[in-house]
Amino acid sequence: MTTPLKPIRKAVFPVAGLGTRFLPATKAVPKEMLTVVDRPVIQHVVDEARAAGIEHFVFVTGRNKGVIEDHFDSQYELERTLADRGKKAELEQLMSELPAAGQASFTRQQAPLGLGHAVWCARDIVGDEPFAVLLPDMLHYADKPCLAEMIEAYNAHGGNHIAVAPVPDDQTHMYGIVGVEDRAAKVSKITSMVEKPPKGTAPSNLHVTGRYILQPQIFDLLAKQERGAGNEIQLTDAMIRLAATPGQTFFADRFDGKIYDTGSKIGFLTANVAYALARPDIGPALKAEIKALLG
Ligand code: G1P
Repeated sequence: MTTPLKPIRKAVFPVAGLGTRFLPATKAVPKEMLTVVDRPVIQHVVDEARAAGIEHFVFVTGRNKGVIEDHFDSQYELERTLADRGKKAELEQLMSELPAAGQASFTRQQAPLGLGHAVWCARDIVGDEPFAVLLPDMLHYADKPCLAEMIEAYNAHGGNHIAVAPVPDDQTHMYGIVGVEDRAAKVSKITSMVEKPPKGTAPSNLHVTGRYILQPQIFDLLAKQERGAGNEIQLTDAMIRLAATPGQTFFADRFDGKIYDTGSKIGFLTANVAYALARPDIGPALKAEIKALLG
């Protein structure tokens, strides 16, 4: 008899980064709180996790990120005022998005030692169960949320999963890159991984898009992980070692939607336009304004 798979209940959001690419906007406001239309970037990513059935949201924060914690807490004065003014729809939306008591945890990464180190900071909160990691910079836009698709793939195959999508060949050095067994398959076994390969050395053009499902054994490997690309403790390097462990398999789950890297100015602005155009309440008016601007 095969043992049943443990469900994916917890998601880790590494949100300790400084956001230097968006100064001065990010001097006092965390980059994750910049808005795409009327929702902070981090809220979009938490929405994706919630839509995939995640029950516990683990934020790895840092100094000057307190407002993220406030954002996911109740705001008594605001709620009271909305109720008094009869703003029922606004109040209901706020309340429906509030993590229930005990559903959100916050821990701090005290020094910027890299993504691998940030994920390791969540080890005690995650404990001994498989979990998701979502990088908030990367907005994944699709009818079916990326993490929901990945959890389906996990339920079918078990193991570890990484969302991937093709990038132009001249961009492979900017990302984690994976080689796969079957390039045409929606879900394929991963045969190799490398973090930010030097130009011309990538095993494919499939990049790691920032959504992961990982087995908890990753934590012991992260604890001993040496610094890699950019002199940082890289998650990809620990995943390479986990993949070499007997009984651990890594799958690439191809994401077919649109990805916006809100960590770059163009990606951030494009996300704002795309998300707004898709909204029935403001899309048509914005389209008219853009047409007029382009003359
Ligand atoms: C991180 C990961 C990388 C991944 C990328 C996606 O890199 O290390 O493998 O492709 O996110 O955005 P970073 O962007 O933090 O340099």
